[in-house]
Amino acid sequence: MDVLENELLKYHTTMKVGGPAKYFITANTIHELIEAYKFAKQKNLPLEVIGDGSNIIFTDNGFDGVVVKNNTKGFKLNSNGILKVNSGEKWDEVVKKSVQANFSGLEALSWIPGTVGGAPVNNIGAYGQECKDTLLEIEALDTTSGNIVTLSNKQCNFSYRDSIFKSLNRHKYIILSVTFALNKVSSGQQYNMPNYKSLQQKLIDLKINNPTIKDVRNAVIKLRKSKLPDPTKIPNTGSFFKNPIVSNIKYSLLLKKYADMPAYSYSSTEKKLYSGWLLETAGLKQYSCNGIGPYQKQALVITNTKDGNYKDLEIVFKHIQKTVYDVFEIKLEIEPEIIK
Ligand code: EPU
Repeated sequence: MDVLENELLKYHTTMKVGGPAKYFITANTIHELIEAYKFAKQKNLPLEVIGDGSNIIFTDNGFDGVVVKNNTKGFKLNSNGILKVNSGEKWDEVVKKSVQANFSGLEALSWIPGTVGGAPVNNIGAYGQECKDTLLEIEALDTTSGNIVTLSNKQCNFSYRDSIFKSLNRHKYIILSVTFALNKVSSGQQYNMPNYKSLQQKLIDLKINNPTIKDVRNAVIKLRKSKLPDPTKIPNTGSFFKNPIVSNIKYSLLLKKYADMPAYSYSSTEKKLYSGWLLETAGLKQYSCNGIGPYQKQALVITNTKDGNYKDLEIVFKHIQKTVYDVFEIKLEIEPEIIK
């Protein structure tokens, strides 16, 4: 197990900001992952496990503890659609293989950056599908007892971009593997397409009437590539803000002032608004600091185009949050995790 000291975290996150980690370890097996946990425990230091660093941000002060890059591989899919994958696997490789094997459930989550371990933390979602919809259980190391435990879908307490791994039990569990229950799609069988407008429009544009899961994956990849910046080329962490959820009453008040404000019915009493639209309408699309600012094709994504640091990013997101609040009286919540 190689232990690096003072490794700059900006090299291990897709936002490309972040100072040094006291210790940095790459874990290539579950055994090494557990060893890294023991190393941190021995030294009485906090531990952060990262995947590709695509939804995590460290400040310029770095991290006074142990950062472990999870690189544990393993993919097992049986004929009943039970898929067990180790947490260090690349998310999109897993989606690709499951679609190739004709199992449905993950196809709309194509081309999302990051690793399998990060997917349930944030309950990743796109085009009407969410990780929680097919997740069966999670195998995790309970850092309080040192035991390996199995958590059911219900125990993870998933909601929109949230789970117990993010809030309540932030450091309690290290996710080792994730098991999904997928559905076999036989040829000729009617396939229930995710009900999401822009995806359906894309399939119409591509002249596909009865899409297969492979068609859906291709359409999603085309959509994402056209709207979202590739983090390996332009540093970013995907959506920087969550889409805010407001009451129907608040929405009808806002509609009086902003007649074209788009919204999605979240529950019988609530609407989900679109942060990208709010940013654009508040005139924030051109705002930037040291090359950090909204992406022009999708304002919800903040890009770092000139090697800006965390301080610049903080100026930008605080200004955006304040302006959106001043204009709409809506508090925008940050979507990636910021480690302070
Ligand atoms: N919009 C604007 N201006 C913008 C961006 C969007 O007016 O700059 C409007 C669009 O016109 C559309 C609406 O906002 O009416 C929704 O846009 P879109 O379909 O692109 O989705 P989104 O709500 O902005 C969410 C997820 C994305 C996910 C897409 C597709 C969140 C915070 N974001 O974005 O997730 O890919 O839906 O399902 O829920 C991510 O989490 O990193 C991510 C990219």
